[in-house]
Amino acid sequence: MDKEKMVQRMFSSAAKRYDLNNSVLSFGIHHYWKRHAVELTNAQEGNNVLDVCTGTADIAILLAKRVGSSGHVTAVDLNREMLEVGKKKVKQAGLEKVITCSQGNAESLKFGKNKFDTVTVGFGVRNVSHLEKAFSEMYRVTKPGGRVVCLEFTQPERPIFRYIYDFYSFKLLPAVGTIISRDKTGIYNYLPDSIRKFPTAVKLRELMLQVGFSSVEYEMLSGGIVAVHVGVK
Ligand SMILES: C[S@@+](CC[C@H](N)C(=O)[O-])C[C@H]1O[C@@H](n2cnc3c(N)ncnc32)[C@H](O)[C@@H]1O
Repeated sequence: MDKEKMVQRMFSSAAKRYDLNNSVLSFGIHHYWKRHAVELTNAQEGNNVLDVCTGTADIAILLAKRVGSSGHVTAVDLNREMLEVGKKKVKQAGLEKVITCSQGNAESLKFGKNKFDTVTVGFGVRNVSHLEKAFSEMYRVTKPGGRVVCLEFTQPERPIFRYIYDFYSFKLLPAVGTIISRDKTGIYNYLPDSIRKFPTAVKLRELMLQVGFSSVEYEMLSGGIVAVHVGVK
């Protein structure tokens, strides 16, 4: 099975309990990571913004609060089941007029160039089949001077912390995640594995520069579990 099919099968299976799992497995810290990433977008009231791999729309909802009713958020994901959960949350938050959820592939975004003031992607690029293509697309649709903010898991560098993290992510996380989501596709085994295979924060910065960003800075969060990269077009 190719990566895209495998990833989509896993997210379809995990969708209904994805939010609960995120909160349990990260002890609720994912909300802080997402808030911080959205702050780094520097999105302003009235801006037109895009959230790629939006999943259940957490980041899109945070962006909507920043851009206000005069702005607009487009939330794109390949997975229908994840988007359905996201749409319900958007409705519950009374943000249907500000956020448009639509199915689409990060590797071939259906928008013209220089369209968005800022673009975000949270825990998404690790799952795409062609990383460079996804970043090229995010770069293309961003206005010159706009930012692309990428939040993604990475690997802690400090040995003790890494040892604890490896134990947690290879042993505890798959067991707890699988029980909560009643998953049969192996998504919570895939998760730690995909993090190990993903480029380091330094390499990801290089890739973003190669794609064309004029500057890329990154910050490590929570002891190096997560990195947030900010690329300026
Ligand atoms: C781990 S979830 C992250 C969801 C959300 N951004 C968050 O931070 O909670 C990854 C999402 O990326 C989506 N995804 C994976 N590959 C994609 C692609 N090529 N294009 C668009 N979305 C994709 C999956 O369907 C899934 O909803």
